[in-house]
Amino acid sequence: MSEVQSGLVDGLHPEEEVTDVVCDEAELKDGEMMEVEVGEHNVLLVRCDGVYSAISNQCTHYGAPLSKGVLSGHRVRCPWHGSCFNVKTGDLEEYPGIDCLPCHKWIADF
Ligand code: FES
Repeated sequence: MSEVQSGLVDGLHPEEEVTDVVCDEAELKDGEMMEVEVGEHNVLLVRCDGVYSAISNQCTHYGAPLSKGVLSGHRVRCPWHGSCFNVKTGDLEEYPGIDCLPCHKWIADF
């Protein structure tokens, strides 16, 4: 069994790092996304082209859960007003979102 571990760094200090096992690798197929909790953070875990990425699950516009949106390629579209974010970088690619999303480090196959 191979588990996916999502670790995130919130802030600049190593003591703020939170690491947690979030799912079995088989639970997330290519082209899928899922909401996971890491510490007190709500994270969107995405698998595209066999590569995992982890960004905040909360839209920067009015806070919609992006896990309820639509994943298309490397972009997730917010379910409420349609902002688009790059799932690899967290970059805002379409408004009305007001900022990029924080990215988190992830570790697989440990
Ligand atoms: S809450 Fe996401 S675009 Fe408005």
